[in-house]
Amino acid sequence: MSETHFGYSTVDEKAKAAHVRGVFDSVARRYDVMNDLMSLGLHRAWKAYAVAVARVRPGDAVLDVAGGTGDLARAFASRVGARGTVVLSDINESMLQQGRDRLLDEGLIVPALLCDAEALPFAPASFDLVTVGFGLRNMTHKEKALAEMARVLKPGGRLLVLEFSKIAAPLAKAYDWYSFNVLPRIGRLVAGDEASYRYLAESIRVHPDQATLKAMMKTAGFGHVDVHNLSAGVVALHVGIKC
Ligand SMILES: C[S@@+](CC[C@H](N)C(=O)[O-])C[C@H]1O[C@@H](n2cnc3c(N)ncnc32)[C@H](O)[C@@H]1O
Repeated sequence: MSETHFGYSTVDEKAKAAHVRGVFDSVARRYDVMNDLMSLGLHRAWKAYAVAVARVRPGDAVLDVAGGTGDLARAFASRVGARGTVVLSDINESMLQQGRDRLLDEGLIVPALLCDAEALPFAPASFDLVTVGFGLRNMTHKEKALAEMARVLKPGGRLLVLEFSKIAAPLAKAYDWYSFNVLPRIGRLVAGDEASYRYLAESIRVHPDQATLKAMMKTAGFGHVDVHNLSAGVVALHVGIKC
Protein backbone atom coordinates (compact mmCIF):
# COMPACT_ATOMS: atom_id res chain seq x y z
CA MET A 1 0.00 0.00 0.00
CA SER A 2 1.45 3.43 -0.99
CA GLU A 3 0.71 6.48 1.07
CA THR A 4 0.49 10.15 0.18
CA HIS A 5 -0.32 13.54 1.69
CA PHE A 6 -3.79 14.84 2.22
CA GLY A 7 -2.81 18.16 3.78
CA TYR A 8 -0.81 17.19 6.89
CA SER A 9 -2.49 13.76 7.11
CA THR A 10 -1.09 10.67 5.48
CA VAL A 11 -3.64 8.63 3.54
CA ASP A 12 -3.64 5.59 1.29
CA GLU A 13 -2.88 6.80 -2.25
CA LYS A 14 -6.09 5.22 -3.49
CA ALA A 15 -8.15 7.20 -0.96
CA LYS A 16 -6.76 10.68 -1.66
CA ALA A 17 -8.97 11.46 -4.67
CA ALA A 18 -12.09 10.68 -2.62
CA HIS A 19 -10.93 13.01 0.18
CA VAL A 20 -10.27 15.77 -2.37
CA ARG A 21 -13.68 15.14 -3.94
CA GLY A 22 -15.26 15.61 -0.50
CA VAL A 23 -13.56 18.99 -0.12
CA PHE A 24 -14.74 20.32 -3.48
CA ASP A 25 -18.24 18.82 -3.21
CA SER A 26 -18.53 20.70 0.05
CA VAL A 27 -17.20 24.08 -1.14
CA ALA A 28 -18.45 24.20 -4.77
CA ARG A 29 -21.46 26.45 -4.16
CA ARG A 30 -19.49 29.03 -2.16
CA TYR A 31 -16.19 28.57 -4.01
CA ASP A 32 -16.12 31.88 -5.89
CA VAL A 33 -17.15 34.08 -2.98
CA MET A 34 -14.67 32.28 -0.71
CA ASN A 35 -11.85 32.92 -3.20
CA ASP A 36 -12.60 36.63 -3.17
CA LEU A 37 -12.80 36.78 0.62
CA MET A 38 -9.74 34.66 1.40
CA SER A 39 -7.42 36.33 -1.10
CA LEU A 40 -8.96 39.80 -0.69
CA GLY A 41 -9.66 39.65 -4.42
CA LEU A 42 -6.01 38.91 -5.28
CA HIS A 43 -6.86 35.65 -7.05
CA ARG A 44 -8.35 37.78 -9.83
CA ALA A 45 -5.02 39.57 -10.34
CA TRP A 46 -3.08 36.27 -10.28
CA LYS A 47 -5.40 34.80 -12.90
CA ALA A 48 -5.32 37.99 -15.01
CA TYR A 49 -1.51 37.79 -14.96
CA ALA A 50 -1.62 34.15 -16.13
CA VAL A 51 -4.03 35.08 -18.93
CA ALA A 52 -1.73 37.92 -20.04
CA VAL A 53 1.32 35.61 -20.04
CA ALA A 54 -0.65 32.98 -22.01
CA ARG A 55 -0.89 35.31 -25.03
CA VAL A 56 -3.69 33.23 -26.52
CA ARG A 57 -4.32 33.92 -30.21
CA PRO A 58 -7.47 33.59 -32.29
CA GLY A 59 -7.77 29.98 -33.49
CA ASP A 60 -5.85 28.48 -30.55
CA ALA A 61 -6.97 25.24 -28.89
CA VAL A 62 -6.89 25.62 -25.10
CA LEU A 63 -7.47 23.06 -22.35
CA ASP A 64 -8.14 24.26 -18.80
CA VAL A 65 -7.41 21.33 -16.47
CA ALA A 66 -8.99 21.32 -12.99
CA GLY A 67 -10.86 24.35 -14.28
CA GLY A 68 -13.54 24.30 -11.58
CA THR A 69 -15.83 27.30 -11.77
CA GLY A 70 -14.19 28.43 -15.00
CA ASP A 71 -12.33 31.71 -14.36
CA LEU A 72 -9.49 30.87 -16.76
CA ALA A 73 -11.63 29.14 -19.39
CA ARG A 74 -13.91 32.16 -19.43
CA ALA A 75 -11.02 34.56 -20.05
CA PHE A 76 -9.65 32.39 -22.87
CA ALA A 77 -13.05 31.86 -24.52
CA SER A 78 -13.28 35.48 -25.61
CA ARG A 79 -9.69 35.43 -26.95
CA VAL A 80 -9.65 32.30 -29.15
CA GLY A 81 -12.48 33.58 -31.36
CA ALA A 82 -14.84 31.51 -33.49
CA ARG A 83 -12.05 29.39 -35.01
CA GLY A 84 -10.55 28.47 -31.65
CA THR A 85 -11.65 26.11 -28.88
CA VAL A 86 -11.54 26.16 -25.10
CA VAL A 87 -12.30 23.03 -23.09
CA LEU A 88 -13.13 23.34 -19.40
CA SER A 89 -12.31 20.13 -17.54
CA ASP A 90 -12.40 18.96 -13.94
CA ILE A 91 -12.66 15.71 -12.01
CA ASN A 92 -15.41 17.05 -9.77
CA GLU A 93 -19.00 17.18 -11.01
CA SER A 94 -20.15 19.84 -8.53
CA MET A 95 -17.33 22.23 -9.44
CA LEU A 96 -17.73 21.59 -13.17
CA GLN A 97 -21.47 22.18 -12.99
CA GLN A 98 -20.90 25.54 -11.31
CA GLY A 99 -18.42 26.46 -14.05
CA ARG A 100 -20.56 25.29 -16.93
CA ASP A 101 -23.69 27.06 -15.63
CA ARG A 102 -21.79 30.25 -14.98
CA LEU A 103 -20.30 30.33 -18.49
CA LEU A 104 -23.65 29.49 -20.07
CA ASP A 105 -25.30 32.30 -18.08
CA GLU A 106 -22.73 34.65 -19.63
CA GLY A 107 -23.54 33.37 -23.13
CA LEU A 108 -20.29 31.40 -23.49
CA ILE A 109 -20.58 27.94 -25.02
CA VAL A 110 -17.57 26.07 -23.68
CA PRO A 111 -17.46 22.26 -23.62
CA ALA A 112 -17.25 21.05 -20.02
CA LEU A 113 -15.63 17.68 -19.58
CA LEU A 114 -15.52 15.53 -16.46
CA CYS A 115 -12.09 13.92 -16.41
CA ASP A 116 -9.04 13.13 -14.32
CA ALA A 117 -5.92 15.15 -15.12
CA GLU A 118 -3.93 11.97 -14.61
CA ALA A 119 -5.67 10.31 -17.60
CA LEU A 120 -6.70 13.00 -20.07
CA PRO A 121 -9.09 11.73 -22.77
CA PHE A 122 -7.38 13.54 -25.65
CA ALA A 123 -5.10 12.50 -28.50
CA PRO A 124 -1.44 13.52 -28.30
CA ALA A 125 -0.65 17.03 -29.59
CA SER A 126 -4.25 18.32 -29.40
CA PHE A 127 -3.71 21.72 -27.73
CA ASP A 128 -1.66 24.91 -28.13
CA LEU A 129 -2.07 25.79 -24.45
CA VAL A 130 -2.90 23.84 -21.30
CA THR A 131 -3.57 25.62 -18.02
CA VAL A 132 -4.04 24.35 -14.49
CA GLY A 133 -5.01 26.93 -11.88
CA PHE A 134 -4.79 25.93 -8.20
CA GLY A 135 -5.47 22.33 -9.17
CA LEU A 136 -2.12 20.51 -9.30
CA ARG A 137 -1.76 20.68 -5.50
CA ASN A 138 -4.78 18.44 -5.12
CA MET A 139 -3.68 15.70 -7.49
CA THR A 140 -2.38 12.39 -6.16
CA HIS A 141 0.24 11.68 -8.84
CA LYS A 142 1.47 15.11 -9.89
CA GLU A 143 4.20 13.68 -12.16
CA LYS A 144 1.60 11.64 -14.03
CA ALA A 145 -0.69 14.66 -14.45
CA LEU A 146 2.20 16.82 -15.73
CA ALA A 147 3.20 14.08 -18.20
CA GLU A 148 -0.41 13.91 -19.43
CA MET A 149 -0.50 17.68 -19.92
CA ALA A 150 2.76 17.44 -21.91
CA ARG A 151 1.34 14.59 -24.00
CA VAL A 152 -1.77 16.51 -25.12
CA LEU A 153 0.23 19.66 -25.99
CA LYS A 154 1.52 20.26 -29.52
CA PRO A 155 5.31 20.58 -29.84
CA GLY A 156 6.12 24.16 -28.84
CA GLY A 157 2.84 24.33 -26.89
CA ARG A 158 2.82 25.78 -23.40
CA LEU A 159 1.67 24.64 -19.99
CA LEU A 160 0.79 27.29 -17.40
CA VAL A 161 0.70 26.06 -13.81
CA LEU A 162 -0.73 28.71 -11.47
CA GLU A 163 -0.43 27.45 -7.91
CA PHE A 164 0.24 28.41 -4.32
CA SER A 165 3.95 28.20 -3.66
CA LYS A 166 6.64 29.08 -1.13
CA ILE A 167 6.34 32.60 0.26
CA ALA A 168 9.44 34.75 0.86
CA ALA A 169 10.92 33.93 4.29
CA PRO A 170 10.34 37.31 6.02
CA LEU A 171 6.59 36.99 5.43
CA ALA A 172 6.27 33.32 6.36
CA LYS A 173 5.21 33.79 10.01
CA ALA A 174 2.45 36.28 9.25
CA TYR A 175 1.25 34.13 6.36
CA ASP A 176 1.13 31.03 8.59
CA TRP A 177 -0.85 32.92 11.20
CA TYR A 178 -3.34 34.10 8.57
CA SER A 179 -3.59 30.65 6.97
CA PHE A 180 -4.20 28.66 10.14
CA ASN A 181 -6.22 31.18 12.16
CA VAL A 182 -8.16 33.31 9.73
CA LEU A 183 -8.81 31.05 6.71
CA PRO A 184 -10.54 28.20 8.58
CA ARG A 185 -12.72 30.75 10.42
CA ILE A 186 -13.83 32.40 7.17
CA GLY A 187 -14.52 28.87 5.90
CA ARG A 188 -16.72 28.10 8.90
CA LEU A 189 -18.63 31.39 8.76
CA VAL A 190 -19.16 31.65 5.00
CA ALA A 191 -19.09 28.09 3.67
CA GLY A 192 -20.03 26.26 6.88
CA ASP A 193 -16.87 24.20 6.45
CA GLU A 194 -13.78 24.79 8.57
CA ALA A 195 -12.03 21.51 7.74
CA SER A 196 -11.82 22.12 3.97
CA TYR A 197 -10.10 25.45 4.51
CA ARG A 198 -7.70 23.92 7.01
CA TYR A 199 -6.91 21.38 4.27
CA LEU A 200 -6.27 24.31 1.89
CA ALA A 201 -3.68 25.79 4.27
CA GLU A 202 -2.04 22.43 4.90
CA SER A 203 -2.00 21.38 1.23
CA ILE A 204 -0.12 24.58 0.34
CA ARG A 205 2.62 23.71 2.88
CA VAL A 206 3.19 20.21 1.49
CA HIS A 207 3.11 21.28 -2.17
CA PRO A 208 6.45 21.34 -4.05
CA ASP A 209 8.18 24.74 -3.91
CA GLN A 210 9.10 26.77 -7.01
CA ALA A 211 12.39 24.98 -7.78
CA THR A 212 11.00 21.49 -7.15
CA LEU A 213 8.00 22.04 -9.40
CA LYS A 214 10.25 23.46 -12.11
CA ALA A 215 12.37 20.29 -11.97
CA MET A 216 9.22 18.12 -12.08
CA MET A 217 8.02 19.95 -15.19
CA LYS A 218 11.38 19.45 -16.90
CA THR A 219 11.21 15.72 -16.17
CA ALA A 220 7.66 15.65 -17.58
CA GLY A 221 8.85 16.92 -20.97
CA PHE A 222 9.00 20.69 -20.71
CA GLY A 223 12.43 21.62 -22.11
CA HIS A 224 12.16 25.19 -20.92
CA VAL A 225 10.40 26.35 -17.74
CA ASP A 226 10.10 29.95 -16.46
CA VAL A 227 8.95 30.74 -12.94
CA HIS A 228 7.11 33.97 -12.10
CA ASN A 229 6.67 34.67 -8.39
CA LEU A 230 3.50 36.56 -7.57
CA SER A 231 2.77 38.34 -4.27
CA ALA A 232 6.19 37.42 -2.85
CA GLY A 233 5.75 33.76 -3.72
CA VAL A 234 2.31 33.23 -2.20
CA VAL A 235 1.59 32.06 -5.73
CA ALA A 236 3.90 31.09 -8.58
CA LEU A 237 3.17 30.85 -12.27
CA HIS A 238 5.28 28.15 -13.94
CA VAL A 239 5.37 28.40 -17.72
CA GLY A 240 6.65 25.28 -19.47
CA ILE A 241 7.35 24.91 -23.17
CA LYS A 242 7.05 21.44 -24.65
CA CYS A 243 10.27 20.94 -26.57
C1 LIG B 1 -8.94 25.08 -6.03
S1 LIG B 1 -9.90 24.47 -7.34
C2 LIG B 1 -9.36 25.44 -8.70
C3 LIG B 1 -10.45 25.81 -9.68
C4 LIG B 1 -10.06 26.81 -10.76
N1 LIG B 1 -9.02 26.30 -11.61
C5 LIG B 1 -9.64 28.12 -10.17
O1 LIG B 1 -8.47 28.48 -10.34
O2 LIG B 1 -10.45 28.79 -9.54
C6 LIG B 1 -9.11 22.94 -7.63
C7 LIG B 1 -9.83 22.06 -8.63
O3 LIG B 1 -8.99 20.93 -8.92
C8 LIG B 1 -9.86 19.85 -9.22
N2 LIG B 1 -9.09 18.60 -9.21
C9 LIG B 1 -8.52 17.98 -8.15
N3 LIG B 1 -7.93 16.84 -8.53
C10 LIG B 1 -8.11 16.72 -9.87
C11 LIG B 1 -7.72 15.77 -10.86
N4 LIG B 1 -7.02 14.69 -10.53
N5 LIG B 1 -8.09 15.97 -12.13
C12 LIG B 1 -8.80 17.07 -12.48
N6 LIG B 1 -9.21 18.02 -11.60
C13 LIG B 1 -8.85 17.86 -10.31
C14 LIG B 1 -10.92 19.97 -8.13
O4 LIG B 1 -12.05 19.21 -8.42
C15 LIG B 1 -11.15 21.47 -8.10
O5 LIG B 1 -12.20 21.87 -8.94
